[in-house]
Amino acid sequence: MPGNDPTSVTLSRRTALQTAAAAAATLASAGGAHADNPSSDTIKVGLIGAGGRGTGALQQTLSVPGSNVKLMAVADAFQYRVDNVLRAVEKMQDKVDCPEERRFTGLDAYRKLIELPDLDLVILATPPGFRPYHFEAAIKAGKHVFMEKPVCVDSYGARLVMEVAKLADEKKRKVVVGLQRRYENRYRETIARIREGLAGDIVGGQVYWNGSGIWYRDRKQDQNEMQFQVNNWYHFNWLCGDHICEQHVHNIDVANWVIGSDEPQGYHPEAAYGVGGRQDRSKNSEIYDHHSVNFSYPRGVRIASQCRQFPGGANRVDEEFQGTKAFVRIGQITDYDGKVLWKFEGPNPNPYQVEHNELHDAIRNDKPLNNAYYGATASFAAVLGRLATYSGKPHDWNKALALDYRLMPNDPTWESTPPVLPDADGQYAIPMPATYKTVDVTTIGKS
Ligand SMILES: NC(=O)c1ccc[n+]([C@@H]2O[C@H](COP(=O)([O-])OP(=O)(O)OC[C@H]3O[C@@H](n4cnc5c(N)ncnc54)[C@H](O)[C@@H]3O)[C@@H](O)[C@H]2O)c1
Repeated sequence: MPGNDPTSVTLSRRTALQTAAAAAATLASAGGAHADNPSSDTIKVGLIGAGGRGTGALQQTLSVPGSNVKLMAVADAFQYRVDNVLRAVEKMQDKVDCPEERRFTGLDAYRKLIELPDLDLVILATPPGFRPYHFEAAIKAGKHVFMEKPVCVDSYGARLVMEVAKLADEKKRKVVVGLQRRYENRYRETIARIREGLAGDIVGGQVYWNGSGIWYRDRKQDQNEMQFQVNNWYHFNWLCGDHICEQHVHNIDVANWVIGSDEPQGYHPEAAYGVGGRQDRSKNSEIYDHHSVNFSYPRGVRIASQCRQFPGGANRVDEEFQGTKAFVRIGQITDYDGKVLWKFEGPNPNPYQVEHNELHDAIRNDKPLNNAYYGATASFAAVLGRLATYSGKPHDWNKALALDYRLMPNDPTWESTPPVLPDADGQYAIPMPATYKTVDVTTIGKS
């Protein structure tokens, strides 16, 4: 049960209902923007997931040049995160109107925020396991969305995001996914040169996120198992999807983008085969710390992907591709005699800011913008890679996407039992190829 720890605060149901009603009333009386016609008006923003990236994304959306914008509501699992983000934007007070009644906590806080009728834009920056469900709720409520990557961690979530992407188009809602390389000039210009034919046909490539490790948030005394896992989300697949999904999705997306097209519908590999494991057993964690995957694309194109999270090796985070005429590194194209054919030299503004600049422009001027499709193909390509490393077997895109594979329980609360539990020694099981199985956790015990 929740105790005094800042990561274990919840509201009673009665208080929550009263708070939601009061919040809707004050927001409506604030007047102003409307999601369908904000061009002369304020874009009213709600933040769901007020951690590191949510705080950054919020600051960026409040900093879009020339855009009248205001933070109206915050939702987070934990009260201390809500307090932290409001402190972080204290210096932007003219862009913040977020009284107590529009600050929500708990695992259902997202719903109370999304129910606020006059919000135009919501930022989704929780752990990715929640993303498909929050995205669905936001689009159904008619909000524009900025959502962080990855956008799913399993087959069910991928299918849901792909469906909701269509609904976003129907409702003319704008969606940006935080795959910021898509908003970086160095990448955009390199890929423009590839499209012009400078490298010939791309036949293969290598993509890397090899780094030294990730944070671990220790169990606090008065946290129950659910609170511990949500707070320490990186180490649980139902919340994180493993680092191949959470982190390496950026580089896998670049491969999809380079090999495929610039169309918003995205592109994806046909199959994946790989190996992975957990070398560092010092952390009590479900995820692997290295994956090496070969992705097969149409026409015999192959991408070798590596991601690693342990110290001591050489770190490398980048992408390179082989074309029939030249070798591509992002920012430079060289022929096979070593002659530089093109080098990026233009301005390279912060892509995290450009994401929000272009999103506001699309909202205000009703320009088509929906990254949810390629967000889903990139995220599910990473899931496909994880299926390959966990099972030790090749996995086919179509079959994997159709699996009854869902890691998120229905409407979890602090009192729910998480889908994975430690064993008698307090250890979480690490997926092993001989025994690995995909499941839909919502059907367990129901057959
Ligand atoms: N694009 C990038 O470069 C980039 C960089 C960092 C993180 N990210 C992504 O941003 C997301 C958040 O990562 P982070 O580093 O900010 O993590 P974080 O742990 O700092 O923040 C996550 C926040 O979500 C809250 N939360 C958890 N479950 C929730 C729920 N059900 N409802 C509401 N709030 C909930 C947590 O309490 C926490 O405040 C992840 O998807 C991550 O992959 C993207």
